[in-house]
Amino acid sequence: MLAIQTRGLTRRFDGRHGVTDLALEVPAGSVYGFLGPNGAGKTTTIRLLLALLREEAGEIRLFGEPLSWTRRAPLSEVGSMVETPSLYPHLSGRDNLEVTRLLLDGETASIDEALALVGLTADAERRVREYSLGMRQRLGIALALMRRPRLLVLDEPTNGLDPAGIVELRALLLRLAGERGITIFLSSHLLSEVEQIASHVGVLHQGQLLFQGTQESLRRRHGDPLAIRCGDARAVCDSLAHLGEQPQLLDEGTVSVPAPRRADHEINRCLIERGHAIHAFGRRPHSLETLFFELTGQEART
Ligand SMILES: Nc1ncnc2c1ncn2[C@@H]1O[C@H](COP(=O)(O)OP(=O)(O)OP(=O)(O)O)[C@@H](O)[C@H]1O
Ligand SMILES: [Mg+2]
Repeated sequence: MLAIQTRGLTRRFDGRHGVTDLALEVPAGSVYGFLGPNGAGKTTTIRLLLALLREEAGEIRLFGEPLSWTRRAPLSEVGSMVETPSLYPHLSGRDNLEVTRLLLDGETASIDEALALVGLTADAERRVREYSLGMRQRLGIALALMRRPRLLVLDEPTNGLDPAGIVELRALLLRLAGERGITIFLSSHLLSEVEQIASHVGVLHQGQLLFQGTQESLRRRHGDPLAIRCGDARAVCDSLAHLGEQPQLLDEGTVSVPAPRRADHEINRCLIERGHAIHAFGRRPHSLETLFFELTGQEART
């Protein structure tokens, strides 16, 4: 069962790419990290998914139900937060939720439930103007939860949060996915962030999907680089190049071979035979960041 499925989804702006021929497949129950650098088309995609923007071509299905600019019924099962949540600063957290409850004609209990889920019960009576940014983000998510959605769509929810706020939000999202079975689709350019919560990843670049699948399949496809810690990294690099490998000097004591041609044990033996002092030898798991830059063909900005 797919929570989100798009086919050929396209929306351009004056001939420039917004998103082109997008085929998203977001399994129900997944936490899907939608990754891309600034201007990749993440917000455009999310606005299309929420029928806030008119599609130019293609189709969207949410839980199998067709959605379009003119057919919005499937959105009743979707909670969303695009950019910063719109809140009334002079009202308390609880009263902000009450406004939404009245609009949705929801039950009173849904407010306490949403407050508890995002950990704002103790601060519910304080005015939102006194809230920290992290608290506002969580209240924004509480607003999105008022519909008791099956799918939560969040555009860069960690934007502007400090590390503690990010940790808190990550825990909240994992709880919503784990305990409530809510499918979570979130965009981010913080690759390290997505790596820690997403079961599935889509990588968007210049409006096109470069990769989509589980995190593991992404890693499998690209393999983990061989990392060698040694006494003289420059000399080891020379030896590896001599063997026909393509080593990278990471620092004075570390060499990486992203895609070794020979078997690891063979490389190890050759280096030892040449008299190199090898301190550590093994595969180092890719960070999503290096994978991302491999996919987009851009250099990592370190
Ligand atoms: N309303 C619009 N009118 C014209 N061009 C637009 C409009 N909205 C988006 N674009 C263009 O579409 C492209 C994708 O923008 P989008 O906002 O979707 O990127 P993004 O991935 O969300 O970037 P960011 O990480 O900066 O939020 C950009 O080139 C942008 O300039
Ligand atoms: Mg954006």
